[in-house]
Amino acid sequence: MKNRHLEGKYAIITGASRGIGQAIAAALAGEGAGVVICSRGKSEGNEARSLFSFAEEIRSMGAQAVAVRSDVSREEDVNTIVRQALETFGRVDILVNNAGVFPNYHSPLVDYPIESWDETMATNLRGVFLCIKAVLPQMIEQKAGCIINISSIAAVRSGKGRIAYGVSKAGVERLTFGLAEEVKEYNIAINALCPVGLTDTESARKLFPEQNPDRWVKPEDVAEAAIWLACQSASTFTGKAVMVPAHGRRTIFIYGRGAGERPWVQID
Ligand SMILES: NC(=O)c1ccc[n+]([C@@H]2O[C@H](COP(=O)([O-])OP(=O)(O)OC[C@H]3O[C@@H](n4cnc5c(N)ncnc54)[C@H](OP(=O)(O)O)[C@@H]3O)[C@@H](O)[C@H]2O)c1
Repeated sequence: MKNRHLEGKYAIITGASRGIGQAIAAALAGEGAGVVICSRGKSEGNEARSLFSFAEEIRSMGAQAVAVRSDVSREEDVNTIVRQALETFGRVDILVNNAGVFPNYHSPLVDYPIESWDETMATNLRGVFLCIKAVLPQMIEQKAGCIINISSIAAVRSGKGRIAYGVSKAGVERLTFGLAEEVKEYNIAINALCPVGLTDTESARKLFPEQNPDRWVKPEDVAEAAIWLACQSASTFTGKAVMVPAHGRRTIFIYGRGAGERPWVQID
């Protein structure tokens, strides 16, 4: 255990069986939060095992952890995650919408398969909507909550052949900025967290074997930013997208929507 900034807080992290979600869940638990971690875990049993053994690992560090095998694009699965969180911990303080797919299929939109479009939107956008909708009643009742949506630089700059992914992340950011205004009165903060460029996860390495991961964002850097966001409230920081720069670079941009605010803030 490191610090205990999140002692007494309870978090749901989607897509936490590997990659960025796993790093965020470990960091939240390291700060003392109890965590509910989920993923579909359907790839030949291995992923399911990794989700449950990861929960075991967190518990062995002295933190509380529950694993729920679930698909965020399915309403009943999402309701199960939230029910499990409430039965175990009695509240939900933090929701990290991290589960996401980056389809292997790259092609100009004219040839883009409808199934790949639907698959991308189902997890990356519908999943975020469903998870938020399911936790909001509890957060509204608590009059406190913090939602972090993992986005991507692709929300503002998506590459050729990868428009679907960029559209899904742009949707997540629009949802973030709009909802921040709706839930501010309940003291619920909602922000997007965007790695700038590729992040060094197994999935990214498989998809881009020709690139050098040394230059990529590290999952631990995204997790560190997530911890900072998890400590915010609606009165300190909400309705923004925070960029996490690649390793070794220091400049970050924060953008968002708010009355009287400049759309972009640059921090060196
Ligand atoms: N890596 C990058 O370069 C990069 C850059 C910018 C943004 N991001 C974003 O960061 C997030 C995580 O990326 P990553 O590289 O860590 O991905 P990853 O290693 O492929 O992990 C994705 C996680 O989400 C889970 N998942 C996928 N679909 C799901 C669904 N429908 N329901 C529940 N869980 C689901 C996966 O487990 P199962 O497959 O077992 O469900 C896994 O735990 C994504 O939102 C991604 O778009 C990544």
